[in-house]
Amino acid sequence: MGAKGRGSNMRSLIVACRRGVVPNAEIAVVVAPSEAAPALEVARAMGVATQVAPNEAGPLLRSFADCEAICLAGFLRLLPAEVLAAFPDRVLNIHPALLPKFGGKGMYGMHVHAAVVAAGERESGCTVHLVNEQYDEGRILLQMRCRVYPSDSAEDVAARVLKLEHIAYPAALAGVLDGG
Ligand code: GRF
Repeated sequence: MGAKGRGSNMRSLIVACRRGVVPNAEIAVVVAPSEAAPALEVARAMGVATQVAPNEAGPLLRSFADCEAICLAGFLRLLPAEVLAAFPDRVLNIHPALLPKFGGKGMYGMHVHAAVVAAGERESGCTVHLVNEQYDEGRILLQMRCRVYPSDSAEDVAARVLKLEHIAYPAALAGVLDGG
């Protein structure tokens, strides 16, 4: 698990593994690039091991040595190519929009939802995808959709999409670990 955001997707993955929603899996370690990442505190409170590692191949490969897959959540940088090569089709990310729309460098957090509202979109949602060496361009594994109403603020859309994220990410991880 690689985390930098507030940690809500990380929490949902930990809970989903513990409840068997993701069968035969556990979140072995939460890795963040800085001790300041709020997700670390959430993970520790849930009894999950944490590590702080720079975004470099050596430290990350050591951190993820016992892992079968890596889930990024709120991680805004590209992973080193060596890490992607060591986990082929096993590095996942979640994006808070329906890719390929509203993705790419700089499209994160509230920027995404503000762009969706500004474009007059009638629907949004989330996308779980495999990670490659481009932002938000890996193969799409799963999408969930919700309505966007004309009166919605970006915050309204963000809240609706986040609920979907917490369902979609465990489901997609279960599929990947099951070979799907
Ligand atoms: C989520 O909206 C996710 O889609 C994006 O970053 C955010 C992380 O939120 N990649 P959280 O840390 O999981 O609450």
